[in-house]
Amino acid sequence: MSSTIRHLLTILFFVSFVNSQTNFRLPKSVLPQQYNLLIDIRNIQDRDNFRGGVTITMDVVEPTKNIVLHFGRTLRLLSKPLLQNISDINVKTTTDTNVEVLTITDANGNNFEKGSYTLSIQYEAAISTSILNGIYRSSYIDKENTKYIVATQFQPTFARRAFPCFDEPEFKAIFKLTFMPPQGITVITNTKKEKESSIGTMRTIEFAETPKMSTHMVAFVASQFDCTASTTTVQSSVCSVNRPEEERQLAAEEAPGLLQALIQYTGVNYEDNKLEHVALPDLLAESMGHWGLITYREDNLLYHPEKSSSIDKQKVVGFLAHDIAYQWFGNLVTPTWWSDLFLNEGFARYFENIAIEQTHPDWQMDKQFVINTVQKALRNDESAAFPLQQSLSDISSVFNSVTYLKGGSIIRMVEHVLGADAFKNGVSAYIKNFQHSTTSPKNLWAELNKISNLPYDLQTVMENWTKQPGFPLLNVTTENRQVTVTQKQISSNNDLTTQWYVPITYTTSADEFKFQTTSPQLWLTPNDNAVKFNLPDGAEWLVLNNKQSGFYRVNYDEAGWDSIEVALKLDNFGGIGELNRAAIVDDLFSLAKLNVVTYSRVFKLLEFLKNEGSYYTWSSAFEGFGYILDRVGLNSTLGDYVTKFALTHMEKFYNSTPFQNIQEDDQIFTLKQNLAHKWACILGHTDCIDKSKSLFKAFNINLKSTVICSALRESTVDFEWDLVWSHYEKSTMVSEKNMFLESLSCTKKTEQLKTLLNLTLQDTFKGQYGLFLFSKVLNNPYGVDLALEFFFENYEKIFLKYQDINLRSSILQLIGSKITTAETYNKLKDFVTTNLSNSQEGQEALNIAETNKNWLKRSGENLLKYFEPPIKNAATIPASFAIFLLPIYIIFVLFN
Ligand SMILES: *[C@@H]1O[C@H](CO)[C@@H](O)[C@H](O)[C@H]1NC(C)=O
Ligand SMILES: *[C@@H]1O[C@H](CO)[C@@H](O)[C@H](O)[C@H]1NC(C)=O
Ligand SMILES: *[C@@H]1O[C@H](CO)[C@@H](O)[C@H](O)[C@H]1NC(C)=O
Ligand SMILES: *[C@@H]1O[C@H](CO)[C@@H](O)[C@H](O)[C@H]1NC(C)=O
Ligand SMILES: *[C@@H]1O[C@H](CO)[C@@H](O)[C@H](O)[C@H]1NC(C)=O
Ligand SMILES: *[C@@H]1O[C@H](CO)[C@@H](O)[C@H](O)[C@H]1NC(C)=O
Repeated sequence: MSSTIRHLLTILFFVSFVNSQTNFRLPKSVLPQQYNLLIDIRNIQDRDNFRGGVTITMDVVEPTKNIVLHFGRTLRLLSKPLLQNISDINVKTTTDTNVEVLTITDANGNNFEKGSYTLSIQYEAAISTSILNGIYRSSYIDKENTKYIVATQFQPTFARRAFPCFDEPEFKAIFKLTFMPPQGITVITNTKKEKESSIGTMRTIEFAETPKMSTHMVAFVASQFDCTASTTTVQSSVCSVNRPEEERQLAAEEAPGLLQALIQYTGVNYEDNKLEHVALPDLLAESMGHWGLITYREDNLLYHPEKSSSIDKQKVVGFLAHDIAYQWFGNLVTPTWWSDLFLNEGFARYFENIAIEQTHPDWQMDKQFVINTVQKALRNDESAAFPLQQSLSDISSVFNSVTYLKGGSIIRMVEHVLGADAFKNGVSAYIKNFQHSTTSPKNLWAELNKISNLPYDLQTVMENWTKQPGFPLLNVTTENRQVTVTQKQISSNNDLTTQWYVPITYTTSADEFKFQTTSPQLWLTPNDNAVKFNLPDGAEWLVLNNKQSGFYRVNYDEAGWDSIEVALKLDNFGGIGELNRAAIVDDLFSLAKLNVVTYSRVFKLLEFLKNEGSYYTWSSAFEGFGYILDRVGLNSTLGDYVTKFALTHMEKFYNSTPFQNIQEDDQIFTLKQNLAHKWACILGHTDCIDKSKSLFKAFNINLKSTVICSALRESTVDFEWDLVWSHYEKSTMVSEKNMFLESLSCTKKTEQLKTLLNLTLQDTFKGQYGLFLFSKVLNNPYGVDLALEFFFENYEKIFLKYQDINLRSSILQLIGSKITTAETYNKLKDFVTTNLSNSQEGQEALNIAETNKNWLKRSGENLLKYFEPPIKNAATIPASFAIFLLPIYIIFVLFN
């Protein structure tokens, strides 16, 4: 399942699924080999159920009294199951709707002996209409006619709601699917159509056998979609509801190259005989990489050459690459249990970039990965209480950002540790050895260890990276030119003292090939208290973690930071490369947050930004400024200082990306332009605001959302907002609609913000985009209080509407992160106590709010020290700032 982080999609990582039981595991005495499944959906339009028949060929590998398989609580037996080996066996059945299993025993109480059996079950099952899991039906309007779609979401535990099966990843089998659809409906599934026959109006379509795969990878879509063929060696097409052909063109053009890149990298051919990409109006996940049939939310697959931006393009290509990579890392090789999900999601996330590197080398995906994945993972992991590999209390909880982001980051670290070629060979061998079966991280490390020339066993090296929460903070001190490096754990649990095998790389000013080396120059191990080395002659500065290839943060002693600061303020940043500048900025903000360095240190060093033109460094910098501004508010003394600091230092950066400059072929320029203008306008940059207002109509498509957003933010008349609203209503393209919504949410006007909040609860508004809109309003300084109030007033309706994607915990976490006053904190606390009966989700939200509160208490004064150095007389504070001093002190008082 792909939940990729673009925009605020981060939150959707916390999507959790209703009723995914965890502790119950099927016995391993019976192994399914093949399923022949018939699904009769002829009455799909008028009935909320369907009929199915399944014949499972299976081996009893150990004599057993019971054959136990999954049987969803929405299923009903139509007759007694038929069990045969050579002859029919008289059986008894019991079902358990709690853990959703069917147990079959011999009516005479005999054991089932070893051997091959077939089990046939005729059943009837409910179709989901409000919850998007199992087999579900959704509808859309096409030229004033209502049309129906029947689609599936089986990952992680919903295949059992569609047919009786051994619904755990480990029980891989071959599937032969047959459908009986209504007239005029096309069925797309994992494999090619083999045979179609009709008797009267009764159509039967048979599909080819699938490769051996897990139950959750079975999928189908029954629809009246339009498809655009793509030219590859495997049959491939891109399908959607009736929309202009050109919207499917980008995906059709990009998919073949990505598939080829992955075949080449892995050295393992694509197994299935076709690969289709289908955009669904309703999908629980962002996308689902089933074998041969990848499903996407519409905005993740469709792209309009004139209406979509370069950033939309990268998003679509990113989803394609992720789910194509999933065909190897997910389908062909699958983690044995959900607790090791990072094995495929982390791989898919990393290989998404490797594939795009091949097709779009100029997008610098390897560099983008550092800010989009590694730094996000570190920020996330700082407060995470659980590791990558975890024992699960709920399967759904594993679909979280740690799995995707930290998983991908750890895999990148291993690649740098082993070297790119060795890693590639090792991964290829791993896939070949484990294809069609399931694995655990142990298998991966063992395979990679064979090609490794490390001084340590790779499994030992990796153990604490995957089994412990958090990551190491390296402490670097220098005395008499001898450097000492020690480690300390960063995680939400301060009592933990994990030690890691840390691969260390470093660069000094004396190095000729700066920051090139990413294979470890030194190791800090759990057995050493410290590792020491001497600075080379003439080295004026030392920076650890070349290209941020290691998953850790670095802190230096005062002299160390001083020398880095001096270097960064020289021409060409003293030779410190852009990814490391970005890493230094990100590390520093985080260290200040953790109270390891002072904010004076951070801002003094950040003065180098006035010469900075790198997208990566600025990306990390705005992340840091944003964190502070979110907590102090734009209207406080501190908010004012930080805003002015950012504005003065970004002038050169801003001027390097003029509004009217459209460089379609330069993706990094476009990303830079977007970042610069978005922040300049938020911070109140006069030129940015003026241009947005005057360019309101004739915009650069890549700056469309920024321009409309800023124009609406500053707008004093209602008709502009109404105009954009009418565009929103007219638009039929989801990504464009979302862009308009995002822009509409920039307004400062209460009524308009309330309209948007109300929209999230309207029947016609799709629940899957509700959190997106809610979070946009919540992120607007003028919307935050309204959104909180709206949530407290409507939480029952919100939870009811969003139950299908069960976004409770994400909404609550988001809310926790926005709480900065004692008043709202107490409100949330009361709410969690009385209305959520102190649920864990509620507690987590409170923890986040509490962290904010502590940050304000500790960091507020600390921050002021940079802007108002204590030596100066307080009376010299400009009068314009003095009036703002009040709010922050009130906050201190309230929280004390
Ligand atoms: C068929 O299964 C029954 C019940 O387990 C067993 O008694 C019998 O020996 C099996 N026959 C064959 C041919 O495997
Ligand atoms: C870093 O190491 C030095 C010297 O070993 C020590 O004095 C200092 O407290 C350490 N700092 C942190 C943040 O652990
Ligand atoms: C993992 O961390 C523990 C706790 O510090 C340490 O004792 C152990 O040596 C570490 N193990 C590995 C393999 O890194
Ligand atoms: C939002 O909905 C509430 C309750 O239905 C209603 O009272 C209010 O007028 C609506 N506000 C706007 C701006 O639509
Ligand atoms: C900030 O202060 C100005 C002037 O007092 C006020 O108009 C504006 O509404 C305030 N903004 C926020 C987000 O409170
Ligand atoms: C929360 O529960 C209390 C006590 O049951 C109730 O009075 C209040 O209305 C509830 N709050 C909301 C927002 O529903």
